[in-house]
Amino acid sequence: MWKRANWSGHLAFVLAASASAVGLGNIWRFPSQAASHGGGVFLLAYVIFSVFFGIPLLITEIALGRKTRRSPSRTFRRLNRKWWFVGALAMIIPVIILPYYSVIGGWVVKYFISSFFSGTAAIDFDSWRNDIMGVGVCTFAFQLLTFALVFLGIKQGIEKSNKIMMPALILLTIAIAVFVVLQPASRAGIRYYMIPDFSRLSSGGASGAAGLARTLLAAMGQMFFSLSIAMGIMITYGSYVRKDDSIPKASARIVFFDTFVALLAGLIIIPGAFAFGGAELAQKGGFQLMFVSLPKIFSSMAFGRIVEIAFFTLVLFAALTSSISIAETVTSSLCDFLLIKRRTGAIIVFLYMFLASIPSALSLKALGAFDFTADILLMPICAFLTCFFVGWVIKPDVVLDEIAESRPHARKLYTIFIRFIAPIFIAVIFVSGLLDSFGIISL
Ligand code: PHE
Repeated sequence: MWKRANWSGHLAFVLAASASAVGLGNIWRFPSQAASHGGGVFLLAYVIFSVFFGIPLLITEIALGRKTRRSPSRTFRRLNRKWWFVGALAMIIPVIILPYYSVIGGWVVKYFISSFFSGTAAIDFDSWRNDIMGVGVCTFAFQLLTFALVFLGIKQGIEKSNKIMMPALILLTIAIAVFVVLQPASRAGIRYYMIPDFSRLSSGGASGAAGLARTLLAAMGQMFFSLSIAMGIMITYGSYVRKDDSIPKASARIVFFDTFVALLAGLIIIPGAFAFGGAELAQKGGFQLMFVSLPKIFSSMAFGRIVEIAFFTLVLFAALTSSISIAETVTSSLCDFLLIKRRTGAIIVFLYMFLASIPSALSLKALGAFDFTADILLMPICAFLTCFFVGWVIKPDVVLDEIAESRPHARKLYTIFIRFIAPIFIAVIFVSGLLDSFGIISL
């Protein structure tokens, strides 16, 4: 069996976990979610959820990983044999996400390269997606990069690449956001993005209590995805954390980085989208905004080419560092499960990633279906079961002792949180989100 590595220190861990958290979700999902849900109302809800839910949930997953020093396939089983299936679930989720995330990564590679040469506005996204060779080569390049960094290992691959990509990503984000904010044309969009507006709580037109409920659901769902919670990633990364490292401090820092980049991404994207295509475009988000509208917006801006290059470099780094974290999770789960060497595991995962990405590369419908299965169906179930498991099966003391929390009131608060507040909230969100997306109820 492979010898388990350790992060070289607190900073290396915080950087790696933040690199996982800061991903495409921050850039193309967060801003449009805010635009669709009352601007500042969403921002406020998101920040509150991140602090009061995000931090304790991160602490929980990281502590489980460090306590057992195993990835999800074995963590739960080690703590209680009968609960192995939660580990299976936490293992399946990244297995589903990895291939389709790498397809999106492939699109980003294409845009990154084009931004240096012909400019991205010249790409016709829809017809390019039918160019199987083009999509194939870019996707393969992205997969190869992901694989290489995982193959090289925790210290040589993941830590070293994050040390370059994360500071660059943060500097680029700040620089582009400052540039956009200084443009006089950005004012209306900034107001639209940041000022709380209860009259437009939901893009479907819902306001009042139903609109607020929708906004809260959206903020909570976004928080889970963005912090890489309930995907097995934080358990895996936690398994490499040193025993003397402070998990609560690390968790607070990860949440800070992730929220900071998300808020700035909104400042980059919303003003341009709003000036260019009004509220409708700002709310749209997704592929269309990122790969069709934004390139056009850039090309109409002063210094647009430079902004474009900076932007797609930033997106590439965000996508790659997140992709590494899922690939690492799958590799680590596989190695713990089959007791094989890490490099053998990495090669198997690479082959799997390549083959399993073919349906998503060929069809947006397939990609959407995988995303729905992981994001809407399985992740909330996994989050719920993890809280239930810690709260009622192994008991909160296991986590509290692992993080060496000795203050009685903090122990009490965490216990109430993990036993009641978190599972109830997650269940409500899951059921109402599901009914809403199948059109059974309309929030
Ligand atoms: N947290 C990532 C983001 O915001 C999401 C993610 C990470 C998804 C890793 C998959 C794998 O985009």
